[in-house]
Amino acid sequence: MTHQTPPPATQDPAPPQLTLALAEKAALTSGAGDFVTTAVASCGIPAVALSDGPHGLRLPKESGDGGQLDLHSAAPATCFPPATALGSSWDPQLAHRVAGAIAAEASAHGIHVVLGPGVNIKRSPLCGRNFEYFSEDPLLSAEMGGAMVRGLQEAGVGAALKHYAANNQETDRMRVSADVDERPLREIYLRAFERIVRRDRPWSVMASYNGVNGVPLTENTRLLTDILRTEWGFEGIVMSDWGAVRDRVAALRAGLDLQMPGTDGRTDHQVVAAVAGGDLDESVLDTAVERLVRFARRTTSVVPPHREVPVDEHHRLAREAAERCIVLLKNDSELLPLDPATGRVAVIGELARTPRYQGAGSSQVTPTCLDTPLDCLHRLSGGARVDFAAGYVLPGVAATDTAGKAAPGPAPDANTDTDAEAALADEAVRLAAVSDTVVLFLGLAAQDESEGFDRDHIDLPDVQLRLLERVRAVNPRVCVVLSNGGVVRTAPWQAAVPALVEGWLLGQAGGGALARVLFGMVNPSGKLAETIPLRLEDSPSHLSFPGEEGRVRYGEGVFVGYRGYDARHCEVAYPFGHGLSYTTFAYSGLRVAQDGEGGAFTVSLTVTNTGGRAGREVVQIYSSGPTASVVARPPRELRGFASVSLACGESREVVVELARDDLAYYSEREGRRRVEGGVYRIEAGSSSRDIRLSAEVSVPGDLSRLRLSGRSTLAEWLAHPVGGPLLSERFARARPQGAGPGAMGDPVMRRFLAGIPLDVISEFPQSPVPPEDVAELAALVAAAAHGQGGRDQEGE
Ligand code: BGC
Repeated sequence: MTHQTPPPATQDPAPPQLTLALAEKAALTSGAGDFVTTAVASCGIPAVALSDGPHGLRLPKESGDGGQLDLHSAAPATCFPPATALGSSWDPQLAHRVAGAIAAEASAHGIHVVLGPGVNIKRSPLCGRNFEYFSEDPLLSAEMGGAMVRGLQEAGVGAALKHYAANNQETDRMRVSADVDERPLREIYLRAFERIVRRDRPWSVMASYNGVNGVPLTENTRLLTDILRTEWGFEGIVMSDWGAVRDRVAALRAGLDLQMPGTDGRTDHQVVAAVAGGDLDESVLDTAVERLVRFARRTTSVVPPHREVPVDEHHRLAREAAERCIVLLKNDSELLPLDPATGRVAVIGELARTPRYQGAGSSQVTPTCLDTPLDCLHRLSGGARVDFAAGYVLPGVAATDTAGKAAPGPAPDANTDTDAEAALADEAVRLAAVSDTVVLFLGLAAQDESEGFDRDHIDLPDVQLRLLERVRAVNPRVCVVLSNGGVVRTAPWQAAVPALVEGWLLGQAGGGALARVLFGMVNPSGKLAETIPLRLEDSPSHLSFPGEEGRVRYGEGVFVGYRGYDARHCEVAYPFGHGLSYTTFAYSGLRVAQDGEGGAFTVSLTVTNTGGRAGREVVQIYSSGPTASVVARPPRELRGFASVSLACGESREVVVELARDDLAYYSEREGRRRVEGGVYRIEAGSSSRDIRLSAEVSVPGDLSRLRLSGRSTLAEWLAHPVGGPLLSERFARARPQGAGPGAMGDPVMRRFLAGIPLDVISEFPQSPVPPEDVAELAALVAAAAHGQGGRDQEGE
């Protein structure tokens, strides 16, 4: 796929010369406070100031004081669209610019490391923290998350890639073990981390709360050391998520460098005691200390580029980003864009006046200012008359009518009709009836989704659905605008509304972005980074989410998100990659060029803007196959994407580079990614279910590292380029002259025998291969394969 220029190699400061006492070393490996690392002034080791992240800074009130855990007292910073929205932009350059702006704010406030981005996979629509993650697809997550890492670090601010790994739910998040088979672990859950670590070189990684296959992440040597460092070459530090360490000594041994937050020295003493008592090799501590010192010097070495935050400029960037994230799901009869020259527009819904623009929990930013959709719609309305009715009460927001007067009765719950609620609904219905068009803001309240807990359904609040029903009955020209971090179910009502806009949580400037899209000043170009299912029950992880008694079994394997909906031919409300525009695009001339055997592929095609407005299209490249795979493959998988902005009538060539390795699956038996030989289909689509063009490519497979043996099945022997002919020749030789084709000539017997290991067949009476020959045959195959470098056998 097309990548940005790799970041300039960061100059690592010279290795530290350490003359630290044991206690000082132990202290360095835990925080000095909630959001600051330990300094050792006498050795010139500075403290590193950390801040959440990821879509803006959660700044301590007093700059540089190391922060505090209070979620509501942060000083103002620009609140950019959270990852759930940013993922829908499919625009890594934009993510890079947003991260650059966050880095500038960080530097200005003396923050050295931003805790993010989060690249966990949206395994279930129920995960309470989906608003903080980009996608159900690892490639899209890697491209967006990687761009953020580069954007931060090129500006001299460290990234903390999180939450490593398989942290896909909030239920029991501090204890649960994600029980994942190796193939989905590698292909889905580790993939974005792997791509980012290898390519973008984050300066730190945050180990998550959960365990994987029974071992807590903070004590997981395999994930923290064997995979992260040895396989992927990670050179930064691993910090714990806040409070994730249970056994400090075991964590150090496993490869965790920094416990966060600090424990006032309590666990430092444990480290000192373990070294003194011989339980912990001091060299393990020294290694962590060396990494931490390098990290401290690297993150604090950049002089802040400026001390003043360009607040207005960042607000404009936040709006530009939000505009790119909005997904036009449906637009029958071209209800949108609203024409300011004609008619009366009813804006209905408390969410238009009191927007939800970010999720709850550690990522909460205090915005520098906040645009509400209602104000912005008023401002941009031109000749149109815009009237407002609240329609419902958002939990946590006082019930007030159009004029802002308190409505009668107490503030109700989301699903309870009270006098206040009824009065607001009546007022909204009256307004809808006398208006030309209704823009109805629906969505989730802050209390419906948050870090710390999962949702238990994906429906909109009943009170909002009842309002929708009543509004629609008096005025069918309804455009619904959704505000939500995790997907909501649209199936029960979407057929009845002509226009539907997915507004996610759009950050502090989302109001202006929505108004500009609704009035057509911006042509929407966002595409779904996750599927919107018809029903929660259709979600591939449904039966094994969120697990029980401390374990969650990832039973759907690699069939996560669209991979699973497609494999089960499951109808969905809106597929992965879907998003409309106010214009239309035609695709033509797909070519797939292979840059020599084993090289990359260049996929190119022409996109033409065939409609009446300038617009941007995100072209998605999927692969499927190969035809005779030895593993269960999803029907299609995203392999690359590129966006193109086109004036009316304009055509442009879009080029996407794919690495050959992108076609690989993870072979558990071989312990590596492996490209199978065969014919693959390369598809270009406007969504995962709107494939416009496809081409076939024949790809040579990787050399197999497996050896044939007596335990290999007859089918495996016959499929082998050396073993197959050798065995067939033995079978032929064993048949008496003039005899018929034998068991192998009978198609049923052939299939019956195919799955039986050769050593079992060799024991059959009159077997053409007696037991004593099996080892010899295997040796012949091994020697021949070694000599001629046999290709792509199907394993044993
Ligand atoms: C969250 C992290 C966050 C940390 C510090 C934890 O609860 O899981 O994402 O960075 O707190 O606020």
